[in-house]
Parts: sequence; C-alpha cells; structure tokens
Amino acid sequence: RLSFLGTGYLGATYAICFAELGYEVVGFDVDEAKIAKLAGGQVPFHEPGLDELLRANLASGRLRFCTSYEEVADFADVHFICVGTPQRAEGMGADLTFVETSVTRLAARLRRRALIVGKSTVPVGTAEWVEQLVARHADAGLGVEVAWSPEFLQEGFAVEDVLRPNRIVVGVRTEWANAMLYAAHKGVFDLAAAEDREVPLVVTDFATAELVKVAANAFLATKISFINAMAEVCEVAGGDVTQLAKSIGYDPRIGNRFLQAGVGFGGGCLPKDIRAFQARAQELGAGEALRFLHEVDLVNTRRRARVLGLAARLLGRRSGPAGPDLSGTRIAVLGAAFKPNSDDVRDSPALAIAAALAKAGAEVRVYDPQAIENARRVAPQLTYSLSLDGCLAGADLVCVLTEWAEFRNADPQALGALVAGKLVIDGRNCLDEPLWTAAGWTYRGMGR
Ligand code: UDX
Repeated sequence: RLSFLGTGYLGATYAICFAELGYEVVGFDVDEAKIAKLAGGQVPFHEPGLDELLRANLASGRLRFCTSYEEVADFADVHFICVGTPQRAEGMGADLTFVETSVTRLAARLRRRALIVGKSTVPVGTAEWVEQLVARHADAGLGVEVAWSPEFLQEGFAVEDVLRPNRIVVGVRTEWANAMLYAAHKGVFDLAAAEDREVPLVVTDFATAELVKVAANAFLATKISFINAMAEVCEVAGGDVTQLAKSIGYDPRIGNRFLQAGVGFGGGCLPKDIRAFQARAQELGAGEALRFLHEVDLVNTRRRARVLGLAARLLGRRSGPAGPDLSGTRIAVLGAAFKPNSDDVRDSPALAIAAALAKAGAEVRVYDPQAIENARRVAPQLTYSLSLDGCLAGADLVCVLTEWAEFRNADPQALGALVAGKLVIDGRNCLDEPLWTAAGWTYRGMGR
C-alpha cells in the first residue's frame, strides 16, 4: 500500500501509474479542489494517456485521493513525498517548506512502522534533515525510516517514464528500507521482465541519490546551452548549427539528443534545478565546481534576447540602449508552453519572449494548442487567439517559439495569405525552410 503526498505533476502521475501496476494507492494533497478533480476522474494538467489510466484505476478501486493526513498515515506502508520545491522568492536556493510540512504532519500521525521516501528534487543533505524531522515528530518506538528515490519524468512522456523507467535509483540506510523500496517497485520490475527488458537498479547512499537528479538535469541543461552557444558562433561565422549538431551527434560519445538549438530550455525543472544546485554547492564550499552552470544559464537567457533583436532587424527597427522600439508592429507568437505536448508555461521561453516583444511596444497575439489557459494566468497583459489562423491574421511577423506539430505541419502557402508581412522567425528550427522560402516567406532560424 503506497501513498503519494503532493498530487502535482509528479505525485499525481506516480499515484495513477502505481495503481496501474497493481498497488493499492492513495494520493494526498492539501488542495481540496485538486483532490476533488482527481477523485472525479479529471487530471488537472495535460499529460497524454493519463486521463484514461486515472479513470480505469479509480474504477478498479485500487486508487483514491484524500486531503487527510490521518487517512494517509493509517493506510500506507510506503509514503512518497512528491511536493513541490520551488525556487525561493529571495535567492537561487530551493524552498523546502512543503517538504517540511508534509513530512512533519505525516510523521506525527503514523501509528505503525512505515518508510518515508523523498521523491521531490532537493538540495543534497535534505534526506538527512528529513530523517531528523521524522525522529522529532514520529513515535520513536515505531521504527519509521527515511529513504530517497529521485524521479526523472519528462512532461509529455511521464506515463512511460514511470511505467518503463530507464533506471531506478534508491538512497537507503538499512536493509529494511531497501527491501521495502524493492517491494514498492516490484511492479515496475515485473512489467519489465514480462516485456523482456531490464530496469537497472542503483542502490546508494542518501547524498548520491539526491545528487543524481540535479546532476542529470545539470548535464541536460549544459548540453542544450552548449549547442546554443555553438548557435551564437554560427550566427556570426555564417555556419548552420543544425548541420553542426547533426554532424557531432553521429559520434555516439556525444549523441544526437538534446542538441536542438533554439530559444533554450524552460519548464518547472531545468532552470530552477541548475540554480538551486549552484546555491547548494556554494553553501558546501564547492561553488567553483559549478560556476559553469552560471554560464549555462546566461547562454540560455541570451537566446530569448536574440529573438527580440532578430525581430527588430526583420521589421526594420533600430535598437536603442533600452532595446528596440517595436511600437506599431503586429507580431504573432506561436507557442506559449515551454515545450510541445505540454500545457506547462513555467519559465517558458516562448511566453517570456512574447512578453518582451509586447514590452518593446509590439502588438502581440499568442496562440498555443494547449497552454492558453495557463498562459493567461501568468501573462494576462498579452492578447491570446483561440486559433492559429486568428493569431496570424494581419501579422507583420510570425515567431514560432514552441515546436508543436500543428505549426510544423502548417502549410506556409495558406498561412501566407493571412498575414500582412511574410516574415517568420523559427525559434525552434522546426520548420521546413525551403518550403517556407518557396512560399515567399523571409525565413530566419536560430544559429543558421
Ligand atoms: C526535464 C528532464 O528531462 C527530466 O528528466 C526531469 O525529470 C525534469 O526536467 P522536462 O522539464 O519535462 O524534463 O523537459 P525536457 O524535455 O527535458 O525539456 C526541457 C526544456 O529544454 C524545454 O524547454 C525544451 O524545449 C528544451 N530543449 C530540450 C531544447 O531547447 N533543446 C533540446 O535539444 C531539448
């Protein structure tokens, strides 16, 4: 019997998928509206395949949702902490308030031996602190223990990533915790065996388990910023970063994934994780080791400015010290989500660029197939269109900033008839350049 505390993106997906694997599961959140939605069979965010699994497992009776710590404490043998660890309002570190609250409230209500497993992305050292919290708040005679097991979900592929992970990492102190965690993942191993696959299991200490997650995200962010740095060089040298990426990617030591140059990375993980990682390394006296992540961050934000500059140039506007003046121009922004197949706009490059274009005076209209509702909440000052055609009507410039299939597959000939000026910035290098050029568009990609 498993519980997942925090039914955001991470916890809800895990709760639903582990019920699917055959466990009895309870999902907990303090947000009553969210719990009511989930209990009613509605996933509060966009994730392919998750709605069907939610409804099937609610119907099976293996899955339920609640807002009571007592119920959770009473029900489960293994409790997974899946609450958010956002960037602190002041500084770059992670805010652990939600971890603290959920752990202490749960621990105080436990009446039998249980394992509390951290899944949230946290600064190294948190697991030990959680252990101290548990020691302070749980009944000492129960033998409640703590473990850490990071997750590696990618939005848009989250169901697969939980059911068929490419590895499981557990940080444990005792054989009992190890055995409990193995039991709590047996469904994953059994599914793999049935499909003739193997899921590698790494059993390690707390610190390593915590570091694995941030190290993986730091590596991915660095890979993206590396190729975007190459894009900057290509832009001044007259090279084509897409050809460059393809050519270096054939070397299996480098690999071709996460080498897509464009407007850079965003989302709820990569940007905040590399900042929190630097802050923590600094606290530990190893700040120098991660100083390069500061550059990774800077390369990433420069990509956003690059689109603004390119837009000004294409529209024939000069840039002053305060940036370009785009007043009187109409710009259609295609994409608000931080990546396609997601409605997530957290730290989204697309939305940040749309806001910057508007701030520079342009009349900006944004369209996204899934993320408009969320975008409206974060950037209410922008104008939104409910269709691609509506967004493009009368535009002087089109900026494609999230590589949705709807944009990649759009017919440039037909779109050309809607706009006032056939200028396009392909912020994700996702359009078929010859096709757009042949349809009369002036095309600008990133790093080419
Ligand atoms: C990421 C990690 O991949 C995942 O393992 C971790 O658990 C959470 O953080 P996610 O935030 O869902 O997952 O997005 P991801 O697919 O990694 O993309 C992150 C950002 O990088 C997006 O904005 C995407 O557009 C951008 N990106 C990705 C690039 O700009 N170029 C690339 O080549 C790949």
